[in-house]
Amino acid sequence: MTRSVLSVVGARPNFMKLAPLARCFAARPDVRHTTVHTGQHYDAGMSAAFFGDLAIPPPDHDLGVGSASHAQQTAAIMQRIEPVLVATRPDLVLVYGDVNSTVAAALVAAKLGLRVGHVEAGLRSGDWGMPEEINRVVTDRLSDLLFTPSRDADENLRAEGVPAERIHFVGNVMIDSLVHALPAARSRQALTRWGLKGRPYAVVTLHRPSNVDDPATLGGLFEALETLGRELPVVFPVHPRTRARLVALGLCPSAGGGLRLLDPVGYLDMLGLVEAAALVITDSGGLQEETTFLGVPCLTVRPNTERPVTCTRGTNRLVTPARDVLLAAARDALEARTRGAAEIERWDGTTAERIAGVVLDGAEFR
Ligand code: UD1
Repeated sequence: MTRSVLSVVGARPNFMKLAPLARCFAARPDVRHTTVHTGQHYDAGMSAAFFGDLAIPPPDHDLGVGSASHAQQTAAIMQRIEPVLVATRPDLVLVYGDVNSTVAAALVAAKLGLRVGHVEAGLRSGDWGMPEEINRVVTDRLSDLLFTPSRDADENLRAEGVPAERIHFVGNVMIDSLVHALPAARSRQALTRWGLKGRPYAVVTLHRPSNVDDPATLGGLFEALETLGRELPVVFPVHPRTRARLVALGLCPSAGGGLRLLDPVGYLDMLGLVEAAALVITDSGGLQEETTFLGVPCLTVRPNTERPVTCTRGTNRLVTPARDVLLAAARDALEARTRGAAEIERWDGTTAERIAGVVLDGAEFR
């Protein structure tokens, strides 16, 4: 019997979670896998570049929603995905991560009586001021199959009353992409191109509203990065949201020095940059995990994380978004030079196979 699975993605961090599953399903004759791209992210550097780097086939449906307020964007995705789901009625709708596309698709699918699977279920920051936390909680509540990346996620779901049989501890699908892509990332010589080969340097990404929307917070963080840039090269691929805020503050292009503001970087170049970095400073979820796996010191500029295992087991440390705190933490981390990859259960490059096993063969992973 051939099963139909439809994956819904929309924003940059979704694409590296889709890639290993798309590959896995393509290798199995008993499943017809189709994809919907909501268009939440649409710039070539935020979307097409990732489909290329990750060798994901073009989406079967492109909803083209674009940017808008949360309500408008979520509503547009719901309106445009409903006819696709009504026409195709897949056996399972897979949603990924915690972006607006995730919760919008899950809500429409659940109301149509379709089964929903959530990849990267159970993560909780406990911070209801974070739009992603709302998306995570609602998506998990709507999902029939909850694929968790870590044991803490299982505990969170059990504490919320999710029946144990819905929870599958499959591991971290982002790490599947990383393991698969590392040889290609290394062969691209990104470091030579950027003149960083053999030198210590830091990589920065910042895009959370809590860090970039308030001019005083963003200004303070930027000052810290400019100061750090006088001590070593600081490479900062800038998210469009952050770039708009920096331009409004007159901080972009930057004064120069060692702080280099780049356009968003593709998946393979970013992986190459991160693997050889002396330090990563970020507010991204995925980078906390990637640095933990690669053993690269990471400072996460947030008061909390939904990925606690990266702090308890990995190289990640939370820092307050304030100039002096960030600068001191960065200098400490650079001086300590503590590297070391953490082995985390089921972060082993085979998570997609486990998910396919649950979906297609009725396997169980507890
Ligand atoms: C979204 C996710 C966030 C994720 C991030 C990764 C939600 C609620 N947030 O945040 O969890 O970490 O993606 O990037 O879903 N823009 C462009 N080009 C694009 C996309 C966005 O210029 O291709 C600009 C627009 O001005 C837009 C802004 O970026 O208004 C924010 O985009 P949006 O998708 O709303 O949220 P992100 O901040 O990207």
